Amino acid sequence: MQSLIKEWDGESVVVSYHRPTDTWVFVAIHDTTLGPAMGGCRLRVYDAPRDGLRDAMRLAAGMTAKWAVAGFEFGGGKSVLAPPRPLQGADRVSVLEHFGDLLESLGGSYMTGEDLGTTPEDMAIIGRRSQWVHGVDGKGDRAVDPGPYTALGVFVGMRAFVRQVLGGELEGRTVLIQGAGDVGRPLAHRLHEAGARLIVSDVDASRAEGVAKEVDGRTVSPEAAYETECDVFAPCAVGAVLGTETIPRLRCRIVAGSANNQLATDDDAEGLHQRGIWYAPDYVVNAGGAIALPMLGQGRPKAAIDARIRNIERTMEEILAEAVERNESPLHSAGRRVQRVLETARGRSKAVGSRQ
Ligand code: PHE
Repeated sequence: MQSLIKEWDGESVVVSYHRPTDTWVFVAIHDTTLGPAMGGCRLRVYDAPRDGLRDAMRLAAGMTAKWAVAGFEFGGGKSVLAPPRPLQGADRVSVLEHFGDLLESLGGSYMTGEDLGTTPEDMAIIGRRSQWVHGVDGKGDRAVDPGPYTALGVFVGMRAFVRQVLGGELEGRTVLIQGAGDVGRPLAHRLHEAGARLIVSDVDASRAEGVAKEVDGRTVSPEAAYETECDVFAPCAVGAVLGTETIPRLRCRIVAGSANNQLATDDDAEGLHQRGIWYAPDYVVNAGGAIALPMLGQGRPKAAIDARIRNIERTMEEILAEAVERNESPLHSAGRRVQRVLETARGRSKAVGSRQ
């Protein structure tokens, strides 16, 4: 863990250990150029605590990029709760309270919200201990689910790619959704309403079947998902699903989904590009939940939030147009956008400094 932290390009890492449940807690703060760090809280069983730390660091970097492209004044951060076994009941509550106390002690330099493995109810529990949770009301007894907002952003972003790469709208197109959860399910519904054909896959077969039934789709097993023919492959579960082992098996033209860190490494963007598969950068297309949470906190109306999320469509069009022109992965055009935003902000803060 020491070497991971030393080699990281982020700003700081907070590590805490909850002895009663043998749970490690990591808060990774990647870049606060744009503002205080904000990013979700993930709860997952890892093979080793070190893997949880690595996940937190990569996810935090993704948040830096997500806020920069979405145009919000937040920095990149993420937290990971890494217990040795699934957490339920009183154990779960005590870990969440422990995390809530840690969060409060950070004084707002890191803010959190829901992510993979945590629920709105979990956020409400954390919210009883800390004010730095987005998506819960002041008393911490009501929580919003960012999932459907994320799904809206993926939907419009996917539509932009389909239009430019395949021509036409989503109607009649086949989309394979990997992960029928908090985002996958509402995404499947939106796509169904737009006339797309759906294939659903989930590690929990009954969950896949349930969602497939709701949208007149069919299911495939998690292993078969990669080689199933489709127009769009939509990773909506865990990250690192696109790597040297899976990319050669894909039979799609577009990858656009909600999972964070879909690529095993940034080099895998090249692998996709060489296969003629257009990759929608995860942190651009999945920003809907991130956009919604602070806006909900400010009491902004749903129409304003939806409109802001729908901007993702335009952003994706621009990113893809640039990538096509330069014959490169859209990840590169998106990356330049991130750097431009960060450099402008750094230049601005330097100018302010020199006047003082
Ligand atoms: N976990 C979601 C994401 O990664 C939503 C979220 C964003 C939660 C920001 C908290 C803070 O985008």
